[in-house]
Amino acid sequence: MSLFWRIFGLNAVVLGFATALLLWAPVTVSVPVLLTEAVILVGGMAVMLVANGALLRWGLSPLDRLTKLMTTVDLLRPGQRLSVPRPSGGGEVTELISTFNAMLDRLENERATSSARVLLAQEAERRRIAQELHDEVGQSMTAILLVLGRAADDADEPLRGELHQAQEITRESLDEVRRLVRRLRPGVLDDLGLISALTSLTQDFATHTGLRVTRRFAPDLPALDHETELVLYRVAQESLTNAARHADAERLEVSLSRAEGAVVLGIRDDGRGIEAACEGAGIRGMRERALLIGGSLDIVSAPGSGTRISLTAPVPRKQP
Ligand SMILES: Nc1ncnc2c1ncn2[C@@H]1O[C@H](COP(=O)(O)OP(=O)(O)OP(=O)(O)O)[C@@H](O)[C@H]1O
Ligand SMILES: [Mg+2]
Repeated sequence: MSLFWRIFGLNAVVLGFATALLLWAPVTVSVPVLLTEAVILVGGMAVMLVANGALLRWGLSPLDRLTKLMTTVDLLRPGQRLSVPRPSGGGEVTELISTFNAMLDRLENERATSSARVLLAQEAERRRIAQELHDEVGQSMTAILLVLGRAADDADEPLRGELHQAQEITRESLDEVRRLVRRLRPGVLDDLGLISALTSLTQDFATHTGLRVTRRFAPDLPALDHETELVLYRVAQESLTNAARHADAERLEVSLSRAEGAVVLGIRDDGRGIEAACEGAGIRGMRERALLIGGSLDIVSAPGSGTRISLTAPVPRKQP
């Protein structure tokens, strides 16, 4: 039914009911009007308005639901759709809702494609920077270390001591550059796979933050493609950084388990929990990465009882 006929029909029901009452009820209106008659008429009008309001609210409720979804819809949580009121009937409201659902399908697709492009470009850029850091800065620092070592061997005290000190500072900086390169391009992921990469990430993390990290990796995990492994690794990386920055936690558990056709990465801390419902670039980035591989990200957190992040990543089907 079109919106016009829906509203017209609802008003006709109310007016018809009022007219029937006037026709069959023993009501008379004197001139000038008596107080009791005025009270009855005003009461009748109030009943009519309430009935009209209730019927209109019921009739327009699909539009209310549509407005609510329009204001709250988030393309990073796909699948939010309105049910079409009556599949059999056409009508403007049904058409509006179907069009809106179709628009969400299209926007979600476009969003997924464009964020995939951005994330892939970001990974390529990280690889390039890591390569340059490794090949240019790393090599130069190694050369400086060697020169300093030779100079220290030939020098007398106190210059020798100072040269050793410079050597030490250079060595620390070189370690820092290597760490940076590992964070930018988890080479271990390519060489040794996800479990080794996560083990090395959590070990580094535990050393730097002093948190107690427990690892629980299921032994029978299915093989994942490189993209899925990279997404799992990046989500673990951001979750660990968040736990260190915001959680004020003592323990942390990182797990990889099997689920129906999927692998689940879980990161749980015993910190203060996410206090306000505010998602920054970090959490939104995790959601985008999850969408990239057709997975889903769940965050369960309550103030005072820690945070649990789980990423369910579908296992890619084997190519025939
Ligand atoms: N493990 C956690 N424990 C407590 N609060 C958290 C945790 N993870 C996230 N938060 C809260 O959620 C907010 C959003 O996190 P998000 O990673 O999106 O942004 P951010 O870490 O503040 O900035 P960045 O963009 O650098 O990641 C944080 O500011 C913090 O308040
Ligand atoms: Mg963050």
